[in-house]
Parts: sequence; C-alpha cells; structure tokens
Amino acid sequence: PERVLSGVQPSGDLHLGNYLGALAKFARLQHEIPTFIFVADYHAITVWQDPKKLKDQVREIAAAYLATGLDPKVATIFAQSAVPEHAELAWVFNCVARLGWLDRMTQFKEKSGKHKERSSVGLYTYPVLQAADILIYKATKVPVGEDQKQHLELTRDIAQKFNNDFEAPGFFPLPDPLTQGPGARVMSLRDGAAKMSKSDPSDYSRINLTDDADAISQKVRKARTDAEPLPETSEGLEGRAEARNLVGIYAALAGVTEAEVLKEFAGQGFGAFKPKLADLAVSVMAPIGGEMRRLLADPAEIDRVLADGAERARALAAPTMAEVKKLVGFWGG
Ligand code: TYM
Repeated sequence: PERVLSGVQPSGDLHLGNYLGALAKFARLQHEIPTFIFVADYHAITVWQDPKKLKDQVREIAAAYLATGLDPKVATIFAQSAVPEHAELAWVFNCVARLGWLDRMTQFKEKSGKHKERSSVGLYTYPVLQAADILIYKATKVPVGEDQKQHLELTRDIAQKFNNDFEAPGFFPLPDPLTQGPGARVMSLRDGAAKMSKSDPSDYSRINLTDDADAISQKVRKARTDAEPLPETSEGLEGRAEARNLVGIYAALAGVTEAEVLKEFAGQGFGAFKPKLADLAVSVMAPIGGEMRRLLADPAEIDRVLADGAERARALAAPTMAEVKKLVGFWGG
C-alpha cells in the first residue's frame, strides 16, 4: 500500500522554501494517501539545541503543520522522539549502511564545514536515521525539497541492502521522493545562487512563515532582480537566477506552471511584477502566520494532536520493528 511520510527539523524559523518544497505538499497529499508527518527532534539535536527551548520549537513546527492545512483527523502528526522505534531501527541501519555511502553525503560536508572533527557523530549518521524514519512505516512517497534527494537515494540503498542481507525480498519498499513542481528549490531573495535557508544571516534572504504582511511585502520588493523585462518563455530565464526564482515562487504560490506565469507577465518589468508577487505572497502566507500565533497562544491543542499522533504512529512502527528483530535474529525477536 502507498504511504506518505515526511518531517521537518525544529531548528529555527520555517520559511517559504520549507513551505513550497514540503508543507504545502503534505496538506494536498493527505487526502489521497495515508500520510504521516513528524517533527524531527532527534535530527535537530545533531547540532546543539537549548533544552529549555526544544519543546516549544517542536510545538512551533506542529503549529505550522496545522496552519498549512494538515488535518489531524486525516494525517498522523507526531514528534519523532515519541516513537523510539525510529532510533531502534536507525541502529540496525547503521550496521547496514556503508561508510563509503555516508562519505558521499553533501549535506554533511556543508553542515560540518571546516570543523569535521568537532561535529557530532549524529550529524554524520543523520541520513541513516532519516532512512529509519521513512522505512519504519514502510512509506513509499516522501514529499521533500530537492536538497533531500541524496538522502532519499541512500534510503533506497539501505532498504535494498537490508532486504538482500536478511533474505527478505520486498520487505522494505524503495521509496520515491516527491520533488516535482516549481517550489522544489526556492533560492535566497538576496542571491539566486544560494538556497533559501534558515541559517542565512540575512533575514531579507527569506520569507518566514511567521512574518506579517508588511514584512512579507517589504522582502519581496527588496528582492534582488535584474533590469530586463520578463521573457516570453523559460529559455529567456537562462542565466537569470534571481528572475527565475521570483517567477518560480509566483508559480508555486499560485499553483500554476512557470510557463503560465510568463504568459501572463511577458514584457513587463519587475517594477510591475513584484507588487503582484508581494500581494500573492501576503495572501497565501500572512494567514498561516496568524493561525500559528493563535495555536501557539495555548499549546494544549497542539499537545493533544501530538499525543494522539504518537499513539497512532507507534501502532504502525512497533510491528515493523518486531519483524526486523526476527529477521536480524535478535533474542526476543
Ligand atoms: P529541513 O528541516 O531542513 O527542511 C524541511 C523541508 O523543507 C525543504 N526545504 C526546501 N525546499 C525548497 N526550497 C528550499 N530552499 C528549501 N529548504 C528546505 C526540505 O527539502 C525539507 O523537505 N532531513 C530533513 C528532515 C527529515 C526528513 C526525514 C524528511 C528527517 N527525516 C524523513 C523526510 C523524510 C531536513 O533536514 O529537512
């Protein structure tokens, strides 16, 4: 059976890239396929997180899930650490994955930077835990931004090797990343060559989910562009990374293709296009921020959702883990 799984780390403000690359897709998919969406707090602590703040950071992501349209009666919403089977399966996968596979992971190289020796071991095996997140539910579809594609390939490699090593053909499915659409790789508003990211020091590089209407509109108006008018076709965006990014954002927010946006705005300059984009961004994003603030004012509702979701998730994860123990040959398996 098809099953959707995805997660977001509770480590900093969510932005437009997270929304278009991931959250907006969750809300759409929940009505088509059983959907499991979690807050990746095990992943967050691969870099230091203040224990006094972590719980609230988790609630904030859960609030974003609800505010972007996930329905807790339809989708299962939970915190990763409430389902310890993720960590249990990750250990087994640590013994399936090869060092050479992890050495190729570009995200570790980016995140560890010049300080590889001082990075946590968890940061290194991070993608193995991600594989466990997905496969503990035998999920088949994983909606993520393009930056997660390499981790999904690793997940498939781990699934395949586990099935081979333990002579269990088809036990774990080989999940597909869902990265299609113009929002799969949203770039910084200040630099069309850099990904929009929580860690960019410039707040003007991104639109946060909690920005109010004024901030959203200011950031769009100040976004870097060029002086050329919008072209008639996508080819005319070659070599114009900033222009392409704004057109892509418009398309993703409006739920249309890049070609359709160009058809509407061809020949117009950014002086005309940006106010339209600002209005669209405000109309989609500002209500999300408002709803998040409302939900976070009293976290009782969020905590209920997470407790209920954890129970439903464990009901599915525990039997998979029991089967894994049998296959591996553990005592008690
Ligand atoms: P995280 O928390 O960094 O990002 C959450 C989601 O947002 C997407 N994303 C973007 N999409 C488009 N443009 C951008 N500029 C952009 N920046 C971020 C990410 O691709 C992601 O989908 N490893 C994951 C969390 C995770 C996970 C999982 C995901 C842990 N276990 C299992 C799926 C399945 C991460 O760090 O995402």
